[in-house]
Amino acid sequence: HFHREIPEGLRQLPGPSSLPIIGNLLELGNKPYLSLTEMSKRYGDVFQIQLGMRPVVILSGYKTVKQALTKQGDDFAGRPDLYSFSFINDGKSLAFSTDKAGVWRARRKLAYNALRSFSSLEGKLPEYSCLLEEHICKEADYLIKELQNVMTTEGKFDPFRYIVVSVANVICGMCFGRRYNHHDQELVGLVNLAEDFVKVAGSGNPVDFIPALQYLPNTSMKKFVNINNRFNNFVQKIVNEHYATFDKDNIRDITDSLIDHCEDRKLDENSNIQMSDEKVVSIVNDLFGAGFDTISTALSWAVMYLVAYPEVEKQLFEEIKEKIGLDRSPVLSDRNNLPLLESFILELFRHSSYLPFTIPHCSTKDTSLNGYFIPKDTCVFINQWQINHDEELWKDPSLFILDRFLNADGTEVNKLEGEKVLVFGLGKRRCIGEVIARNEVFLFLAIIIQKLHFYKLHGEPLDMTPEYGLTMKHKRHYLGVAMRPKDEQ
Ligand code: HEM
Repeated sequence: HFHREIPEGLRQLPGPSSLPIIGNLLELGNKPYLSLTEMSKRYGDVFQIQLGMRPVVILSGYKTVKQALTKQGDDFAGRPDLYSFSFINDGKSLAFSTDKAGVWRARRKLAYNALRSFSSLEGKLPEYSCLLEEHICKEADYLIKELQNVMTTEGKFDPFRYIVVSVANVICGMCFGRRYNHHDQELVGLVNLAEDFVKVAGSGNPVDFIPALQYLPNTSMKKFVNINNRFNNFVQKIVNEHYATFDKDNIRDITDSLIDHCEDRKLDENSNIQMSDEKVVSIVNDLFGAGFDTISTALSWAVMYLVAYPEVEKQLFEEIKEKIGLDRSPVLSDRNNLPLLESFILELFRHSSYLPFTIPHCSTKDTSLNGYFIPKDTCVFINQWQINHDEELWKDPSLFILDRFLNADGTEVNKLEGEKVLVFGLGKRRCIGEVIARNEVFLFLAIIIQKLHFYKLHGEPLDMTPEYGLTMKHKRHYLGVAMRPKDEQ
C-alpha cells in the first residue's frame, strides 16, 4: 500500500497504529463487530485499520453510513477482490464478485425483477393471495408436523436443523419449482452446512488479507471450498434439467425465466450482449443462497428469544389470539394488524444484529467522506452492529425490549424508529430480497407462535452468544416444543 498524497482540503484517515505483516488483525479479535465498535468510540465514524497488507476503512454511525451508501452511493458500490469470495458461485456471484458497475447493475435488475414477479405471482390455490404466501403456509404446516414427529420420537429438537429446510423449500419453490422432504439427505446435508460457509465469508477473515495464509493448511477454508462446490453442483444439476425440459410458453420458475431471458437476447439484434448465458443463469445460485441462510438464521434466533423470554412469547400469542383468533391461520395481510409481532421482529434484528457487517464494499474512485480522503479500490466495512447498538440512537441498547418500536398508545409501529434498524444495508447494494424476507419472517413466526409453544429443556442452559460470521448463528441447541392445547386453540 503506497501512501498517496492527500488532496488539498482533505484530511488523512485516523486509526490505530499497526504491526508489520499482520497490521491490526490481533486487535480485531474473534468478535470484530465489538472491537470495531470500541474503536469507533476513539476514532470516530470514519477510520482506517490495516488488515495484513491492506488498508480497510470502517464506517459507523447512521448518518455517515447513509451519506456513503446513498448520497455517495456510486463511490462505494464496488466489492473488494477477496480470496474467499473467488470461490462463491465459481467467482460469478452477483453479490460477492468484482463485476464492474455495468454488468453488476444489469444482473441486479434481472435478479430483482425475477424475484418480484415470482413472489407476487398468483398462487395455484385461490385461498392464497400470492405464490410466496402459498409456499410459506404449506412449509409452515410441514414444519409443524415434522416438529411433532421429532418431539414424539426424540423429545427434543434442534431449531436450525428444521427451520432451514422449511425456508430453503420456500426459495426452492420460487427458483426451481420444487420442494424437498425434511429427510432428503441431499438438501438437508447441504443447507445444514451454512455455518461453515458464513464463518469463512465474515468480514475480516485473515486469509483474505494475508496472501501467504492461502498456501498453509486451513481446515475451515477447505470446508468452505467444498461447500461451494457442493452447492454449485446441486444448482447446476437442477439448471441442466431446466434446460432439458425448457418450454418458452410455460415459464415455470425463476430458473426458466433467466433461461428465457438468454434466448430473447439472442433473437434481439439490437441487444449489446455483454455477458455470458452463464452469468445470467447463475443469478439463481445467488438467490437460492441468499434466500435460505439469512431468513432461517432470523427465524432460528427468533425461537431462541421466545425461549429465553417466555413472557414475550406469551404476549405475542395473546396478540394473535385477540386480533386473528385461533380458528384460522395467519396470512400476509394480517401484518399491519399485529404491531407487537412487528416490533418483536425489529427488536430481534436490532438486538441480535446477526448480520453485523454488510458484505464488504469497495470504493470505485478516489472520494472523500466527512472530510477524509478515501482512495479508489479501498476495502470498506459497514458496521451495522454499531448502528443498532449506538447509545446516541437507542435507549438501553443492550436490553431486549419487546415494545421498543410501538408508539405511545401501543397500537402502531413507529415507522421512523423501525428504519433506524440496519440489517439489509442501504443504497445501491441494499438487499434485493428485503420485502420477501420481512414478509417471510413475519408469516412463519405468526403461524408458529399461534400453534406452538417453545421451551427450554432441563439442564440445557441457553447460550445466546453469537458465533461470528457473515451471518452470526447461535450455538446449536436442543429445545422442546408442544402444540398449544386444544382449549387454548
Ligand atoms: C445483499 C441482508 C434476505 C438477496 C444483502 C446485504 C445484506 C442483506 C446486509 C448486503 C448489503 C450490502 O452489501 O451493503 C439480508 C437479510 C435477509 C436477506 C437480513 C433476511 C432476513 C435475502 C433474500 C434474498 C436476498 C430472501 C433473495 C431471495 C440478496 C442479494 C444481495 C443481498 C442478491 C446482493 C445485492 C448486491 O450485491 O447488489 N442482503 N438479506 N437477501 N441480498 Fe439479502
